[in-house]
Amino acid sequence: MLTEEQNRLLTEVEGDAPFGQMMRERYWIPCARSAALVADGPPQHVRLLGDDYVAFRAADGRIGFFDEACPHRGASLVLAHNSDCALRCLYHAWKIDVSGKIVDVPSEGARAATFGENIKVNHYPTFEGGGLLWVYLGKGDLPVRPPLPFLDLADDLVWVCRSVSPSNWFQGVEGTIDSVHVGTLHQSWIGDHYKNEDSKNPSIALTLDSHPRYEVEDTPFGMKAAALRDLADGRQYIRVTSYVMPFVSLVPAGGTDREGTMFIAVPRDNHEHMLFWGFWSEEPPRLEGEKDMTVGERDLDNWVKFDEGPNRTWGQDREAMAKGHFSGFTGCIVDEDLVIQASQGVIQDRTKEHLCSSDVGIGRLRRRLLDEIAAWQNGLVAIDGPVPDKVRPLDTIADAKQPWREMV
Ligand code: FES
Ligand SMILES: [Fe+2]
Repeated sequence: MLTEEQNRLLTEVEGDAPFGQMMRERYWIPCARSAALVADGPPQHVRLLGDDYVAFRAADGRIGFFDEACPHRGASLVLAHNSDCALRCLYHAWKIDVSGKIVDVPSEGARAATFGENIKVNHYPTFEGGGLLWVYLGKGDLPVRPPLPFLDLADDLVWVCRSVSPSNWFQGVEGTIDSVHVGTLHQSWIGDHYKNEDSKNPSIALTLDSHPRYEVEDTPFGMKAAALRDLADGRQYIRVTSYVMPFVSLVPAGGTDREGTMFIAVPRDNHEHMLFWGFWSEEPPRLEGEKDMTVGERDLDNWVKFDEGPNRTWGQDREAMAKGHFSGFTGCIVDEDLVIQASQGVIQDRTKEHLCSSDVGIGRLRRRLLDEIAAWQNGLVAIDGPVPDKVRPLDTIADAKQPWREMV
C-alpha cells in the first residue's frame, strides 16, 4: 500500500511531475516502431509525458522529431507533407527541414528563404535500435544508451509491436515485475503454447506452480527479480526478470539468456501508456518460434485494440471460459495483460490495495523508484556503480545451492 503522495510520485509524469522530469532529463525514451517511419511517408504523432510531437523519416533515412505544433500558428505537423527531407505545413506551407530549420516561408516573397532563420523549432535528438526509435527530450548532455541486449541486433532478430493502453504506465511496469501472475492470468495461454514435450521452452510450464519464492536485488540500472521454484529432483527453476529503469523489463523466454521477451511501458501522459512488446534473439534462428506465438495478423502499431464494451469486460469470451479457458481472452498474451491493467482503473488507487507475500517484487520496485526520484531531485543517483553493457534475463534449472545472483 502506498500513500496518496507516493502513488502520485510514481504515476504522474506530466508538466513538473518529478518522475516525468527525470524521464525527460536522464533517459532516452522509446517512442515509436522504427518501421512505422517510412522514408517520405506519413509523419507520425507521438505523445510522451503529456506533450505532443511529430516524428518523420526523410527521403535519405534521417529522422526528424519536432514539437507537433507548427511554429507559425500551431497547426499540426502530423498533417504536413513529407518530402525533400522536410515537412511542409498544410496551413500556410512553411517548410521545416529534417534538422529543424525553417527553410521556406512562401508568403514572405523575396524573404521566403531567410524569414525563418531566427525562429526556433523545438527538435530533439533520436537514435534507432531494437526496432524502435528513441528520443531525448531533456536539456542536458545526451544520456548513455540503455544497457539492452537487442539495440544492435539485425532487424530479423528483433520483433516488436506497439499497443496504446488506457491505463497509467506504472501499471504496465508493475505487471512485468509481477511474476506470479504468469501462472494464473496466462495459464491457458501457456498451456496452449508450451504443451508439447519438445517445445523449445519447456521450463516456462513450471510457472504454473504459483507458489515460488521471490528474491529481489537492487542494481544501479534498476533491479532483478527472481522467482525460485523447488523441483522434485532437488534442483530449482530460476526465473529472473531484469528491470532497466524506468521503462524496460526483460523477461525470460527460454532456457538461454541470449533471448527474451521485452515489455517496454512508456507514458503518453498520466492516463495512457504505450506498450512495446516483442522478442529478441542473439542467436538465430530461434526467433522464428517466438513469432509463431502471436495469433493471426494484427496491425503492429495497434496490436491490442481496446473496446470496453457494454459490460466493461473488453470483449471477454465467457463461452471460452465455460469450455475451460481461464481468462476468456483467447487471442494474444498481451491482450490479457493490458485488459487486466486497464481494469485496475486508469490510475490504480494504491492506497486501497492489500499486498501479499508474492508482491515482494512490486514493493521493492516502488521503493527503488521512489529512492531514485528522491536522489534525482538532489542531483544524485540512488545506487552508484558499474552497469554492464548488456543486461539480460535468466530462465534456467540449476542446482538448488547455486546462488542465482551469480548467474545473471
Ligand atoms: S500554421 Fe503552419 S504554416 Fe501556418
Ligand atoms: Fe503478463
